[in-house]
Amino acid sequence: MKNILITGGAGFIGSNFAHYILNKYNNISIIVLDKLTYAGNEENLSGIKENNRFHFVKGDICNVSLLKDIFLEYNIKGIFHFAAESHVDNSIDEPEIFVRTNVLGTFHLLETAKSYWMKEPFKYNEKYEDTCFLHVSTDEVYGSLGSEGYFTEETPYAPNSPYSATKAGSDMLVRSFYHTYGLNTIITNCSNNYGPNQHDEKLIPTIIRKALLKENIPIYGDGKNIRDWLYVEDHCKALDIVFQNGRKGEVYNIGANCEKTNIEIAFKICEILDELKPLDNKESYKEYISFVKDRPGHDKRYAIDASKVINELKWQAGTKFEKGIFSTIKWFMKKYRI
Ligand SMILES: NC(=O)c1ccc[n+]([C@@H]2O[C@H](COP(=O)([O-])OP(=O)(O)OC[C@H]3O[C@@H](n4cnc5c(N)ncnc54)[C@H](O)[C@@H]3O)[C@@H](O)[C@H]2O)c1
Repeated sequence: MKNILITGGAGFIGSNFAHYILNKYNNISIIVLDKLTYAGNEENLSGIKENNRFHFVKGDICNVSLLKDIFLEYNIKGIFHFAAESHVDNSIDEPEIFVRTNVLGTFHLLETAKSYWMKEPFKYNEKYEDTCFLHVSTDEVYGSLGSEGYFTEETPYAPNSPYSATKAGSDMLVRSFYHTYGLNTIITNCSNNYGPNQHDEKLIPTIIRKALLKENIPIYGDGKNIRDWLYVEDHCKALDIVFQNGRKGEVYNIGANCEKTNIEIAFKICEILDELKPLDNKESYKEYISFVKDRPGHDKRYAIDASKVINELKWQAGTKFEKGIFSTIKWFMKKYRI
């Protein structure tokens, strides 16, 4: 049995990943470490909590003695590091917590892994040679694109928000632990995820909820900002493949080649809701869309070139947007009971 630490496993992507990995493998136990901030929810783990290969620790990745205890108690052999403050809007209002969790927390995790797995730089303890620290990061570290081009693994970093700046900082620390100490690390930079368990504050859950409540659906600026949408289960599959077969010290960009403007997303969701739950007056939910003052420093376009992970590791995003968004809407309709 191999014990894997999943930080932030009560959040959106981490919880989907916890389900995915427990269902896929019989020889892996997972230890979810999560502070249960406003963004974490133990409900996201229902269905796997009873599994004897599942362990939950409520705690902070900045708590060094807790990290050491976890590594010792569970003999951790791999890490999927999801824990982060993740909402750009919050980072504009309160950046300090982003620096603490995203930068300092990642540093403490790296330090703990290094001292538990290695005896000195580039020398692993026996039986720890195959360990891996997979750091889950974002395409937002690359900044904003114009109407053409894609983010590749070689794109220079140009983070524009406090959120992306702290993720960029954490990526740099991960990189440095590979080059300085030989720690087995891999960084993944992915595009916007969507799917079950996403926090209510994010764009797609907000559009669905506001529409169902027949309230104004807020869309920033002119709605023409472009994001590249990745279904969360496809992302989980990619992370598993990268962890198993990715080259240590490398970076892999993960995206589904699915660019949409925010207004296109809102229209699509409204059209599906028009079918699934028609309004009494037969109008469209689109009537509720309302443009609001743009987010300061709002990046215009993100788009990922995922050819490295596709060609080298044979991963493909298998979920078509139409299918992914339909099941996401159904999932949130059940959650909101509206
Ligand atoms: N959601 C996306 O579209 C997206 C896109 C690119 C990258 N990412 C990255 O993927 C990771 C997961 O994102 P998400 O959307 O699931 O985030 P989320 O906000 O839904 O979940 C974050 C989780 O981390 C936990 N957490 C926060 N601070 C912690 C701390 N100090 N110690 C322990 N746990 C803590 C929270 O309680 C929560 O459960 C993040 O690192 C994020 O930067 C997300």
